[in-house]
Amino acid sequence: MGKTVGIGITGGIAAYKMADLVSKLKKDDIDVIVLMTEGACKFINPLTFKTLSGREVGTDLWTESLEWKVQHIGIAEELDLLVIAPATANFLAKMAHGLADDLLSTVVVANTAPVLVVPSMNTNMYNNPIVQDNIKTLKSYGYHLMDPDSGLLACGVTGKGRLPESDDIYQQIITLLFPRKDLAGKKIMVNAGTTCEDIDPVRFICNRGTGKMGFALAREASQRGAEVILVSGPSTLEAPPDVKFYSVWNAQEMCDIMLEYEPVCDVIIGAAAVGDFKIAKVAEQKMKKTDDRSGRLILELVENPDILKELGARKHDNLIMVGFAAETENVLENACKKLTSKNLDFIVANDVTMEGAGFAIDTNIVTFISKTGEVKKLPKMSKDMVAAAILDKVAELL
Ligand code: PMT
Repeated sequence: MGKTVGIGITGGIAAYKMADLVSKLKKDDIDVIVLMTEGACKFINPLTFKTLSGREVGTDLWTESLEWKVQHIGIAEELDLLVIAPATANFLAKMAHGLADDLLSTVVVANTAPVLVVPSMNTNMYNNPIVQDNIKTLKSYGYHLMDPDSGLLACGVTGKGRLPESDDIYQQIITLLFPRKDLAGKKIMVNAGTTCEDIDPVRFICNRGTGKMGFALAREASQRGAEVILVSGPSTLEAPPDVKFYSVWNAQEMCDIMLEYEPVCDVIIGAAAVGDFKIAKVAEQKMKKTDDRSGRLILELVENPDILKELGARKHDNLIMVGFAAETENVLENACKKLTSKNLDFIVANDVTMEGAGFAIDTNIVTFISKTGEVKKLPKMSKDMVAAAILDKVAELL
């Protein structure tokens, strides 16, 4: 493919996983230069990467290189992309502050190609505000950051911090090396996350939607050249750069914004878990415990607007509409009903009772059902990859 990728490996237990990634890249004829910190060399022998990449592995700033006259500059000049994975807390700090005291960090400073950083560490270390600040700093310099996966970590803790699967890192590398612009010139609106309905000034009803699925769609669509409008309920996620972002509280606010933009959209994707009901009369003051000792409180709920149904009813000729169906039983049957009643082009059904599917996790297991009756079941994939598959289908329809 004629591209060169620098793979910078720092001292984390996940360093061994990079062997698989290097091998995958080489199979696709991508030239790889591996650079390892001293810590990385304690986890895995550079010889492994020399054998897999077929090139000298850079480990020391002071060793004379056979390939490059001035090693760190020569390497940096060759790169089309630099990947730092796994990136330890220490290396993130060095990058965020421009420290250049070993071969990899000097290459980072000398490099002018795009950079992909994949942090991996213990959950508490990852959540440390200093580490999070360093990640923010790197993002502000235009570095691409991949979120770590959640799961059982080598230290025995279960939480966020695992290095993503090598397939996912590989996919991200390919996207950055060969940016597809197949959605250029298209306006795509995505909704994401939960919606919240007030009960009183301090309480509200919401659901388990976090925005992971919808934000992945917005990010992918934007990377593929679309002009993206993202309308999300409350979420802790950061909106992707270059996306017009609306943060809303309840279903009505989400509906109002989406109805306003509908006439100018080419594609609308409903990934949000919109609350079907709201409180009939929101209490003006904080509600007190009942005096009647019944131990019961009855709240009256009324229907929220069905956003996709309203959009589907006024759908203009060239608009592609995609919905999701979060189901716990009769998945395909229920999804088909929603596909028809909301006038969608296709629906993405997820059985949210399955492990690895649905709310608040990084993966999903989905089936596409088209209005033409075509059914396509996909295996468990990261939400980023599900987003790519949905947009492939959208691009086909466009
Ligand atoms: O945000 P995450 O934590 O990543 O979780 C992802 C997800 C599980 C929320 C996502 O994959 C998903 O399934 N989203 C749709 C959830 C849902 O509300 O499904 P539903 O079957 O109730 O609704 C069907 C479709 O109609 C959806 O596209 C929904 O956005 C839309 N809808 C529903 C109700 C309503 N009042 N208005 C709507 O537009």
